[in-house]
Amino acid sequence: MYKDLKGKVVVITGASKGLGRAMAVRFGQEQAKVVINYRSSEEEGLEVLKEVQEAGGEGIIVRADVAKEDDVKNLVRTAVDHFGTLDIMINNAGMENPSPSHELSLEDWNRVININLTGTFLGSREAIKYFVENDIKGNVINMSSVHEMIPWPLFVHYAASKGGIKLMTETLALEYAPKGIRVNNIGPGAINTPINAEKFADPDKRADVESMIPLGYIGHPEEIAAVAAWLASSEASYVTGITLFADGGMTKYPEFQAGRG
Ligand code: NAI
Repeated sequence: MYKDLKGKVVVITGASKGLGRAMAVRFGQEQAKVVINYRSSEEEGLEVLKEVQEAGGEGIIVRADVAKEDDVKNLVRTAVDHFGTLDIMINNAGMENPSPSHELSLEDWNRVININLTGTFLGSREAIKYFVENDIKGNVINMSSVHEMIPWPLFVHYAASKGGIKLMTETLALEYAPKGIRVNNIGPGAINTPINAEKFADPDKRADVESMIPLGYIGHPEEIAAVAAWLASSEASYVTGITLFADGGMTKYPEFQAGRG
């Protein structure tokens, strides 16, 4: 637990399931004020709100599609109107949609780029605008991936979006460091969330993924939430512009593990 997170206002996009949900609950345990963004299922949003409250936090749910500028503006405005300020913005919402690259439609390309990359930009921009105008040394955390550095055939739009997030975060960190605003990425490896449910339900596919993870297991959402809590806390006060990979070693070329090469 990080004492300084108590009472902090945190917006988490895509918080109705997966990593967003785990982060919402973790910030609830930290007794933060959690703004739970959902896109379509109010019911799921309310379930997460209950978990946040049971964990010891306060919260509200706000519907927003992160790819829509007005929705993101409204999300940040609602957080500030309800809780009086904003301290931490976590741009987590994302999607993937595999396709051979030569068959990928422009529509599918745009959908992934709009949600993963443009949505992360809009959330970052609205939060930073509020921090600058109100002289707040706020905190932005973007959800990248190991695929900001590992190429991923069939996921060209996803990899491009995460590669874009890498340099966007580094640029924003540099631009706003003089104002004390920190901007960082989390780079998860393979984590057990609904985005991977179908793949991990197949024992062969699961074993194949596990073979690429030096620590030997698929990560738990709570292990990513723990990274988010640390990055948001004052314990990470000197950390900005990084991607903190939480990937069980996946980015460390596991095929070389046995001394091959
Ligand atoms: P998930 O599919 O379980 O959850 C994604 C969440 O984003 C859902 O709540 C969904 O409703 C929301 N969302 C999607 N489009 C949205 C939109 N337009 N507006 C608002 N919300 C929207 O996926 P998971 O695993 O929780 O992923 C969260 C983030 O972590 C994503 O950015 C993903 O790329 C990233 N990530 C996940 C990894 C994993 O292994 N689970 C690995 C690396 C990165």
